[in-house]
Amino acid sequence: MNILITGNMGYIGPTVVSHLRNSHPDAMLIGYDMGYFSSHLTNVGLLPECLLDRQHFGDVRMFDDAILKDVDAVVYLAAISNDPIGNQYEEVTLDINYRSAVSLASSAKKAGVNYFVYASSCSTYGFAVQEAMTESSPVNPLTAYAKSKVYTEKDLEPLASDDFRITCLRFSTACGMSERLRLDLVLNDFVASAIASGKITILSDGTPWRPLIHVKDMARAIDWAIERPLDAGGPSLVVNVGANDWNYQVRELAEAVRKVMPDIEVSINKDAQPDKRSYRVNFNLFRTLAPNHQPRYDLDTTIRELRDGLEAMAFKEQNFRHTKFMRLKIIESLREQGWLDEALRWTFYSKRGSGMGY
Ligand SMILES: NC(=O)c1ccc[n+]([C@@H]2O[C@H](COP(=O)([O-])OP(=O)(O)OC[C@H]3O[C@@H](n4cnc5c(N)ncnc54)[C@H](O)[C@@H]3O)[C@@H](O)[C@H]2O)c1
Repeated sequence: MNILITGNMGYIGPTVVSHLRNSHPDAMLIGYDMGYFSSHLTNVGLLPECLLDRQHFGDVRMFDDAILKDVDAVVYLAAISNDPIGNQYEEVTLDINYRSAVSLASSAKKAGVNYFVYASSCSTYGFAVQEAMTESSPVNPLTAYAKSKVYTEKDLEPLASDDFRITCLRFSTACGMSERLRLDLVLNDFVASAIASGKITILSDGTPWRPLIHVKDMARAIDWAIERPLDAGGPSLVVNVGANDWNYQVRELAEAVRKVMPDIEVSINKDAQPDKRSYRVNFNLFRTLAPNHQPRYDLDTTIRELRDGLEAMAFKEQNFRHTKFMRLKIIESLREQGWLDEALRWTFYSKRGSGMGY
């Protein structure tokens, strides 16, 4: 099997690559990434991309279809991957997360690819706390990021056929260690705060709901989707990916961290306005369709793993919310240094009109 993974050099990508390398030792694994965060490795002995057969550096907005030759499955992770960046770069977010994904899927179909897996998000539900949202509940995308996911799901569907199976995995919020760790994700942020300052300050009133999933469990779901049988959802499937008992309120997450590190302080801003993003999600469909690829991690183990991983890095940065552990800060720094233009293209290439992706 030949598998192309776009956006493989981010937080989730290295875990997906290492999982697929184990589950498909004979597969040809091909990475494709722009490399925004490539130099921000966390305590690794091996460059994660060494597990690939081939790494392309390129921009999905200028994708060369020749790369799809003999590819059987595409996993589309490339994205502007959170609300803060999406809010500042709305059109760029739609171009990368949405238009380029649909265009690449269309090229993939023409090239004879059989499976297209899209990393969607439960944030498409926006605000939904009365009951847990199923795939047939209405979506309510509140941000450019969430909109990009909803638009893509909708425009991918008509491309699907028995021979070109499309799976949109609506992932819960990720957590856990990775070779390119992000700390702009709720649980990772709490553990990092606990280690760096002995304190977790919840910026909301603590009530918002967030379903979570460990990055390694995301990789297991992707592994299922790249060979999804037709009778598990048909040619086109949108499915929530996570576990029913991993729906947490933010304050419960802080308390779970305190259980592992009892000396820390947790403070909640009782006067804060309720967060606009809050959703509970039902994962029954995923459990029925993919019984052998269900999440395995528990919260306690995930917190301990993050704590141990951060301690092994001698992590002490109290102001980490302003550092390279935040995706937005890296993008801002690349912009300030003149490496990226306003469309988040590498300036070196955009000036001369050739090079990566041109
Ligand atoms: N992390 C989460 O909580 C979460 C939850 C649900 C869904 N997802 C989705 O999973 C995917 C991966 O998330 P992540 O946390 O690894 O994000 P990330 O920001 O760490 O990684 C995204 C990768 O995409 C690459 N990329 C961005 N624009 C590109 C372009 N134009 N061309 C080529 N590559 C480009 C970046 O260089 C980066 O390596 C994203 O689609 C994200 O929306 C993530």
